[in-house]
Amino acid sequence: MRREESARWFERARRVIAGGVNSPARSFVAVGGGPPVVMARGEGPFLIDVDGQRYIDYLAAFGPLILGHSHPRVVAAIEAALKRAPLFGTPAPAEIALAEALVEAVPGLEQVRMTTTGTEAVMAVIRLARAATGRNKIVKFEGTYHGHSDAVLVRAGSGPSTIGRPDSGGIPPGVRQDVITVPFNQPAVLAETLERVGREVAVVLVEPVAGNMGIVLPNPGYLAQVVELAHAAGALVAFDEVITAFRFHYGPAASLFGVRPDLYVLGKAIGGGLALAAYGGSRSLMALVAPEGPVFQAGTLAGNPLAASAGLATLAVLREENPYPRMDRLAAELADGLRDRARAHGVAVTINRLGSAFTVFFGAEPVVDYASARRTSASRFARFHRLMLERGVYLAPSPFEAWFVSAQHGEAEVEATLGAAEEAFAALAREGKG
Ligand SMILES: Cc1ncc(COP(=O)(O)O)c(C=O)c1O
Repeated sequence: MRREESARWFERARRVIAGGVNSPARSFVAVGGGPPVVMARGEGPFLIDVDGQRYIDYLAAFGPLILGHSHPRVVAAIEAALKRAPLFGTPAPAEIALAEALVEAVPGLEQVRMTTTGTEAVMAVIRLARAATGRNKIVKFEGTYHGHSDAVLVRAGSGPSTIGRPDSGGIPPGVRQDVITVPFNQPAVLAETLERVGREVAVVLVEPVAGNMGIVLPNPGYLAQVVELAHAAGALVAFDEVITAFRFHYGPAASLFGVRPDLYVLGKAIGGGLALAAYGGSRSLMALVAPEGPVFQAGTLAGNPLAASAGLATLAVLREENPYPRMDRLAAELADGLRDRARAHGVAVTINRLGSAFTVFFGAEPVVDYASARRTSASRFARFHRLMLERGVYLAPSPFEAWFVSAQHGEAEVEATLGAAEEAFAALAREGKG
């Protein structure tokens, strides 16, 4: 594929944008370097680059585009909101209706606060939990990602892990003192940690299905243990469902596992591709948030009518059309097809999947936590990524991200993807173990 226009644009980007990208996960650093592809537009399940080439899109903008690109109902909702005015700086119907939809869909969520990004929502949840408990420490899990605020970048996942710097520069030692990171799926380590310092822990923050070390499912009963252990220590539990809420069914992942956290963080899908996230919990906890309570959190664009309208339209389509069974079936077909083709060519892969999200790890061992994710082959993934890209399949440029199937993917895309994968695995097999 020739990408001359793309290369020209990226040259311009490198001059004026740090590293050429506005978020490090968009760079190709983790997949062998070189310029990333500059995209011009999206169409249903496709991305089209500035050279006019089309890719089947499994990035879904890192998760929000559950309805694919430019879903007509989402576009119509945004257009209508734009005509009314994109921002008032006052309460507006769209944010109120969206809050009602979230409260209705998420068990235990009585009130929310909207933010512009997931990062802010996580920051707010940590502050709220500290105020509610009068404690300072947070417990989180190795390889998870909760945005880019100081506390949660202490041994984070996703972008930072991919570029080999789990800790960001510029984080004061004082912040690290209050962050404890434990391995995912190991209840004994969490129990031992809480035994030791539980009385100082404000919140245990967890992605119920990890999405930022690749997709890693909780072992049966694990999330219930997390909730039980945290509560026994007098700590709150916050589920970061920025990726998972509304991804697997019309509601939070928590419900799929029969558990209920004290606080939820929501994002990505609930903004329908625009900038919106939210956090919330019981009315009594949320009463601590300003202006009713002492915990300050704010935002000029928080809950803006444009994003709230896009989110509302997205949730309406998800609720009314229930695309989940179809998305799950397509993702299962893809995952099974990929596994079969890899096996036929002697390429060892492990595929972790829940519903319409999965990760293809290049290794034979089960991936159950960050340590096992990191033992898989990043170089083989990098090669696979390049081979798929050349065949018109756009995957997230990191071994620790997911493939997301959207409501606009169909059999034709699955078939084309498996055709590309057949050639990619054959090439990997020819090139040796790498
Ligand atoms: C689980 C999780 N939490 C929080 C965030 C941060 O959200 P944002 O990028 O909107 O700040 C992300 C982003 O990928 C995420 O995956």
